[in-house]
Amino acid sequence: MIIDPAKMDFRDLHHLLAGSIVPRPIALVSTRGENGVDNVAPLSSINIACVKPPMLSFSLSTRRRKGGEKKDTLRNIEFAKEFVVNVPVVESIAAAMNKAGAEYPDHVSEFAETGLTPVKADLVAASMVLESPVNFECRLVQISEFGEHPSISSLIVGEIVRAHIKDEFFANGEPQTNKMRAIGRLLEPYCRTSEIFEFDVEYTL
Ligand SMILES: Cc1cc2nc3c(=O)[nH]c(=O)nc-3n(C[C@H](O)[C@H](O)[C@H](O)COP(=O)(O)O)c2cc1C
Repeated sequence: MIIDPAKMDFRDLHHLLAGSIVPRPIALVSTRGENGVDNVAPLSSINIACVKPPMLSFSLSTRRRKGGEKKDTLRNIEFAKEFVVNVPVVESIAAAMNKAGAEYPDHVSEFAETGLTPVKADLVAASMVLESPVNFECRLVQISEFGEHPSISSLIVGEIVRAHIKDEFFANGEPQTNKMRAIGRLLEPYCRTSEIFEFDVEYTL
């Protein structure tokens, strides 16, 4: 099968991409906007943008069916220029994460709706998610916009200015990833990381 992306509509392109780029990591990105309400959204476009300085990136799409309305996370980041990336999503908060993906009015906090616990961050106003093994406090570096109204994607890049990791998940100078029970995302379903394997080959960074 050969596919010409130029002939595909938004939905089919989304399925082609999200069904092929798998499994995707999931972050809970927490923000606080002009109204002071704590917001949390799950995003599976999260990835490492740069190691030194440490930078993360993720993309936020506009709400196409709502005439290209911006998501609260984007509006809050545009306003505050900072956010927290809470990772990974672990099995114990999978249901809360999925619930946080629903659409809530901007005066409603997803912390209250999902039962996730907000914790004060050190350097940014946005709250951290207590249940996440790692919290990265980030300052906005840049926003790049792609696509056309009403389906615009804003690629956010932020620099990590402080990292928090729970003691139980840190040993020998590094995160104990296989203790975390992280989950990932396929097209729509989720997957576990309980079955892992490795090769005995060195590679250079
Ligand atoms: C697992 C998962 C991954 C998601 N990844 C993204 C993403 O990468 N980008 C995006 O714009 N929306 C993504 N969404 C949808 C947003 O979480 C959803 O639109 C949410 O309502 C945004 O909330 P906000 O308006 O509070 O920012 C994802 C949803 C789920 C459940």
